[in-house]
Amino acid sequence: MEAITQGVAKLGAAVGLNVAGGDDTRTQRSGGNLGGKVIRTSGGVTVTSNKDPGHRMRAVTWHGPRHMALEERPRPLVTDPADAVLRVTSSAICGSDLHLFLGSAPGMQRGDVVGHEFMGFVEEVGPEVKHVKKGDRVVACFDIACGRCRSCSRGAFSGCDVTNPSKDQEMMYGARSAGLFGYAHVTGGYEGGQADYVRVPFADINLLHVPDDLPDNKLILLSDILSTAWFANELGAVGPGTCLAIWGAGPGGILAAHCAQVRGADRIILIDNQQYRLDHAAARIPGLHTINFDKEKASAAEGWEGVKPALERLVPGGPDVCIEAVGFHYCKTAAHAAMVKTLLETDTADILNELIYCCRKGGTIACIGVYVGLTNGFNIGALMEKGLTFKAGQTPVQKYWGHLLDLIKSGKLDPTIVITHELPLEDAPHAYKIFNDKTDGCIKVILKTGMSGEQQGPTTTGTSGTGTGAGTTGGSVSGVEPGTAASASATKA
Ligand SMILES: NC(=O)c1ccc[n+]([C@@H]2O[C@H](COP(=O)([O-])OP(=O)(O)OC[C@H]3O[C@@H](n4cnc5c(N)ncnc54)[C@H](O)[C@@H]3O)[C@@H](O)[C@H]2O)c1
Ligand SMILES: [Zn+2]
Ligand SMILES: [Zn+2]
Repeated sequence: MEAITQGVAKLGAAVGLNVAGGDDTRTQRSGGNLGGKVIRTSGGVTVTSNKDPGHRMRAVTWHGPRHMALEERPRPLVTDPADAVLRVTSSAICGSDLHLFLGSAPGMQRGDVVGHEFMGFVEEVGPEVKHVKKGDRVVACFDIACGRCRSCSRGAFSGCDVTNPSKDQEMMYGARSAGLFGYAHVTGGYEGGQADYVRVPFADINLLHVPDDLPDNKLILLSDILSTAWFANELGAVGPGTCLAIWGAGPGGILAAHCAQVRGADRIILIDNQQYRLDHAAARIPGLHTINFDKEKASAAEGWEGVKPALERLVPGGPDVCIEAVGFHYCKTAAHAAMVKTLLETDTADILNELIYCCRKGGTIACIGVYVGLTNGFNIGALMEKGLTFKAGQTPVQKYWGHLLDLIKSGKLDPTIVITHELPLEDAPHAYKIFNDKTDGCIKVILKTGMSGEQQGPTTTGTSGTGTGAGTTGGSVSGVEPGTAASASATKA
């Protein structure tokens, strides 16, 4: 109990102050993402990459709330024998990156290289790598698995027992989850893939070989948000006959609706207050129902009560499955906003309570929206008395991405429906802003390094074919790694 209290106190401090520490630190050296420390996990994985001082690259770095930058860094090298180094062609900004952008993700350090949704070409491999080789085109997953531990051997890759050195996380949760690329130090502190090059530990399990004849934009979201959308459907066992409601019309929620349709769900309802996102989804997913909760709120005394009558009209008795694709920082009530602000809690219960309230008796809540700590006023009574099943988790991407690649190849899944912006890597600070602020019609941004070798598919050439009716509005921009001659085109769909 004391450990939980201490962990939560530390978490509160981390949320407020963005402190980090408490890792398995072995030796000191200069350079790297971690302020010169070499960190090894208990499984022997080195978190801090060796660097090639002779070759510089560009990387997107975090410098505090709402402050991202593009900086030059030395290129990472193969550091452990099971590593690969990738030359990144495309990197996406995820809704989870918004938690760190806003300063809500605990344990960020200034100068951290971010990005956990990326793909490219294998540049170099360590001696133990068997399944990928230099020159292979690959997608990386956001969760770093070892492939061998108890969790990995059960397919629970995002719970890998050995890739996260954070003692803080163990104190907070009673166990460590997998390390993540380009994220807070409670998830390891590994350098991310919004960069020209990135090191991938345990390359055999954390890279998926992808075909040459599909453009990056069709493939990159296997790395995270497409796999996560599928995972939400798996948690809810969505299939023929299922009526489901999805909270959040970001990339995660829209792709969860797309996946539900591919899985044969009967009725799919998407909830948000961003009308442009609801309209974008409805135009691409035939039969989708949408609810704008701001419009419903106008006819109800309590904000969250407005959603239930709207859902009752569409599904009397409530949906079988309610998917949470929002996350811990979107407070809906003034009470939770005040408690988060004063560190009386780290996470709001607003959205989870609404799902519990709206779900049919005996139904399932599937939570893929990220939560990090404690919340007050959680409606445990309704969860118990209604006999609901509550499932949640970080996605074990490696479990699903092979199947999802087949669905993309066959044309059944088209993840490009959420991509609205394609920008050069150097525009990352602007891209974070429009994605977070929900301006310029932004739903999903793909950052292009301009590194040679990217497949030039329909999206990058600016013709139709993304499912978005995309057209090139940007001109040619420099997305050039220092010392090379490559360029990328900027596209806004
Ligand atoms: N579990 C995982 O492995 C995993 C992987 C990727 C992303 N995520 C998480 O999934 C969530 C969604 O990601 P995204 O990329 O779509 O992010 P996003 O921030 O673009 O989307 C969130 C959407 O929720 C909407 N929203 C806010 N309050 C709401 C409310 N009360 N009711 C309904 N909708 C509301 C926002 O307007 C926004 O459109 C994030 O929390 C992200 O961290 C989890
Ligand atoms: Zn993510
Ligand atoms: Zn493992």
